[in-house]
Amino acid sequence: MPPKGGFARTRNVDYDDDAYDDEDDYYEEEETGGGMTEDDKEQMRVGTIRVREALGEFEAGISDAQIQEALWHYYYDVGKSVSYLKNKFGGAPAPKATPKKEKPLSKFEQAASIATQNAPATAGTTPKKKKPVTNGEKLADSVGKLQIEEPRVKSKNLNVANEFEKSNTKRIANFVVVGHVDHGKSTLMGRLLYDLKVIDQRSIDKLRKEAETIGKSSFALAWVMDETSEERSRGVTVDIATNYFDTDKTSFTILDAPGHKDFIPNMISGSSQADFPVLVIDASTNSFEAGLKGQTKEHILIARSMGMQHIIVAVNKMDTILWSQTRFDEIKKRMTAFLTEASFLEKRITFVPLAGLTGENVVKRVDKTAADWYTGETLLEALERVEIPQRHLQKALRLSVADVFKGDMRSPLSIAGRIDSGTVQVGDVILTLPANETATIKAIEIKDEPVDWAVAGQMPTLHLTDIDPVHIRKGDIVCSPNSPVKLVKAFSSKLLAFEPVLPCAVEVFRSTLSSPGEVRSLSATINKFTGGVVKKRPRMIKAGEVARIVVNLDRELPIEEGMRVVVRERGRTIGAGLMENVA
Ligand code: GTP
Ligand code: MG
Repeated sequence: MPPKGGFARTRNVDYDDDAYDDEDDYYEEEETGGGMTEDDKEQMRVGTIRVREALGEFEAGISDAQIQEALWHYYYDVGKSVSYLKNKFGGAPAPKATPKKEKPLSKFEQAASIATQNAPATAGTTPKKKKPVTNGEKLADSVGKLQIEEPRVKSKNLNVANEFEKSNTKRIANFVVVGHVDHGKSTLMGRLLYDLKVIDQRSIDKLRKEAETIGKSSFALAWVMDETSEERSRGVTVDIATNYFDTDKTSFTILDAPGHKDFIPNMISGSSQADFPVLVIDASTNSFEAGLKGQTKEHILIARSMGMQHIIVAVNKMDTILWSQTRFDEIKKRMTAFLTEASFLEKRITFVPLAGLTGENVVKRVDKTAADWYTGETLLEALERVEIPQRHLQKALRLSVADVFKGDMRSPLSIAGRIDSGTVQVGDVILTLPANETATIKAIEIKDEPVDWAVAGQMPTLHLTDIDPVHIRKGDIVCSPNSPVKLVKAFSSKLLAFEPVLPCAVEVFRSTLSSPGEVRSLSATINKFTGGVVKKRPRMIKAGEVARIVVNLDRELPIEEGMRVVVRERGRTIGAGLMENVA
């Protein structure tokens, strides 16, 4: 999910070279993001006349192109365009841009496109038609005359690390909410945002009403996160939803992941941007057990293998078991055993019994005699206490692209994602991989606010120029041109096996970027704790074992030592690896 607000954009542009020419007509109908329809052209024509009339004395020095750029940017709002132009050429205050309601690509379409992108040929699925990026081209053609020569972007040449030090920016914490389907992740996040007053009462009342209308009243809070009609009607999260809240000490970003097994690639993408996971477990009878057989364990292993060391376990729906301490203790015991097996240290695991639906122990402490036995933290207190990994501002720039947006003429292409290491500032030239193309950062936004720079740990939106949109996709890596990540077709990695692993055909995920490939050989099983070789050339790696393996890829991926990858076979996660040698 993109950060909310900001410029309207067509999201998650997926490019399919094959679909380029012959699919144009098909997408013409669907597209609402940026191409100029007949209606657009008419609105532009009429809008230009109206703006000219309204500009009066200002009118003389302003060209049609400038008026039309303003109209495009303000979605044909004559009033806003006029104030903007007056401000630019005269002095009145500029209006704040109100984005036109975009029609995003359906989350189901997006998820399906990721899921099928690398599905084995035998899977029998017809890959979804992907959205070709003809929009930018159409736009450029249609309003070519309106194009204004842009001045080159100037860098202020800031020492960003120093600026960051001086700025006293709050602690930054990004967490991913994981766990089995329906265990209450989105509801819990909706509740957290509601009780922190990030979401107001009116919005919640509206959601409740809408949810009731379709007989899904229990999902009202989840709808704070689940925004698409598909998610709402099915009652299932599909894609990562991003939201923010601040406490006195910390700026938090929530990445709400889908629990359904079909959308694991989206969960991997969310996890690759997070500092720690909040695992949500449904404590009610049989649900916890069902989760263990389902995605609870898989999500834990993925999160751990992404390098996350702290975990908060939200033992949810405590209202359904009348706040039974016995049940909580049982869940805590079984989960501690599993989490320590997955190499989380016990001191870095926090359990909080709570109920997202009622809000007990989320922000406010539970006030029930049946829950007297619990004297520990609320979820919010536990979130405040989690240690955040060290940020590497001095290291080379690495940013994983979580979203690509096509916008308006002023900002035709923007990307959002977490900076894994290094810093960026306006005017920087960046390199996108695997396309190996450069772009210039024209503007940066964090939580919809324009800023001059961003640092490791933050999740900015970068508005880019000097690049053709075909060269950047969701999952790409952005780095500095003088310190690029290599594109590799083979690597050796330390793999933690979730399931038995044999040499076989696999899919390798680096964030959402992925390639089919094969586990070519198993070099040795190694001791999890000491790293020493246990057995050379094993025939098979058992679940839970760590081994050094060699993997070949069909397509080059930008990966380097220290990066994490997830290895899946026929839609199941079989292990996760830490890059050792790349070739
Ligand atoms: P996915 O994202 O699709 O994996 O689901 P989810 O984990 O986000 O679950 P969601 O928040 O959509 O909630 C699923 C159902 O559980 C809804 O009907 C919620 O009302 C219900 N639920 C969530 N939290 C609680 C709780 O604390 N108590 C009770 N009784 N029900 C809850
Ligand atoms: Mg959900």
